[in-house]
Amino acid sequence: MRTRILGTGSNLPEKILTNADLEKMVDTSDEWIVSRSGIRERRVVDEDIPSSELALPAARQAIDGAGLSPEDIDAILVATVTPDMAFPSTACLLQNKLGCRQVPGFDFSAGCTGFIYGLILADSLIKTGSAKHILVVAVEELTKIVNWEDRSTCVLFGDGAGAAVVGPSENDDVGIVGKYWSGDGSVADYLKLPAGGSLMPPSQKTLDEKLHTLHMLGNETFKTAVRAMEEASVEGLKNANIDVEDLDWLIPHQANIRIIEFTAKRLKMPMDRVIITIDKYGNTSASSVPIALDEALKSGKIKHGDDVLLVAFGAGFTWGSNVIRF
Ligand code: ACO
Repeated sequence: MRTRILGTGSNLPEKILTNADLEKMVDTSDEWIVSRSGIRERRVVDEDIPSSELALPAARQAIDGAGLSPEDIDAILVATVTPDMAFPSTACLLQNKLGCRQVPGFDFSAGCTGFIYGLILADSLIKTGSAKHILVVAVEELTKIVNWEDRSTCVLFGDGAGAAVVGPSENDDVGIVGKYWSGDGSVADYLKLPAGGSLMPPSQKTLDEKLHTLHMLGNETFKTAVRAMEEASVEGLKNANIDVEDLDWLIPHQANIRIIEFTAKRLKMPMDRVIITIDKYGNTSASSVPIALDEALKSGKIKHGDDVLLVAFGAGFTWGSNVIRF
């Protein structure tokens, strides 16, 4: 028995922040941002819209697309580093907003690898009979945690949500056919939000020093990312027993076009078979893969029978992949 994707959804805030807008905020240029990252614009959520609200339309689309109603959902997994609050979970808040039954729901933090980890978790839960239909959501509001005075990070990130409903497949040929996940806490310092947790509870000092914002060592992150993306891709394909020549689409985490191009080159995957959204949305962390997946499905790029590799890396560090046959 395999687990398959029954429906997908995505939601992006309407407000667009262009590189030209950023030129007025920090000492940067459109040329620098495009050449170093591939980003031209990103979406910014309104102050009063929490992650659960941003996720709601994406979750509804995924449930509708699966031909199900909220009462059919047996569990909700939410990947996010920007939950509405530390607790209760965004998953429980979303459950209530969707009008689901009383079902288990929890958030988990796997950085940008969140959706990949979520599909692996959901696959296991379905195969062990713990749940039949699982809503896997990734939602991030990174514009609320970046330091808008730090040009090295604020130009890179954006907001968005992606979702999928997964369930058992009637056809053994369709569904998640391969996976890989890994992590390495020894490089945790490369990418973190230092304050606000039990290590450094909020204080005037942490606010003054902007320790409640995203801190990243860009170069170290870059080097770790390219290694992780290659490893996750190769191991995922090996697990699926699929050669890269037979792969139809690569959907990589959208952190930097250079990381994406490097990964494609190492895999010998032509760029016209790689789904790219970074130019219009920037890095939306865990949401980037499900948003790109949803768009590729809805635009008709991914067709019945296609083999698709989802691959991501992120804070933790974490990295992983799913190989899915549609
Ligand atoms: N505009 C203009 N100049 C800038 C900007 C900016 N926005 N940001 C940095 N610079 C300057 C730096 O100050 C530096 O100047 P200096 O040489 O005078 O000191 C110069 O540009 C070069 O900086 P580098 O950091 O070396 O630039 P690099 O080519 O490495 O690109 C970048 C930086 C884009 C951040 C790159 O390192 C990167 O993409 N890293 C990985 C980021 C990533 O993947 N993050 C996500 C990880 S997981 C997740 O998605 C949450």
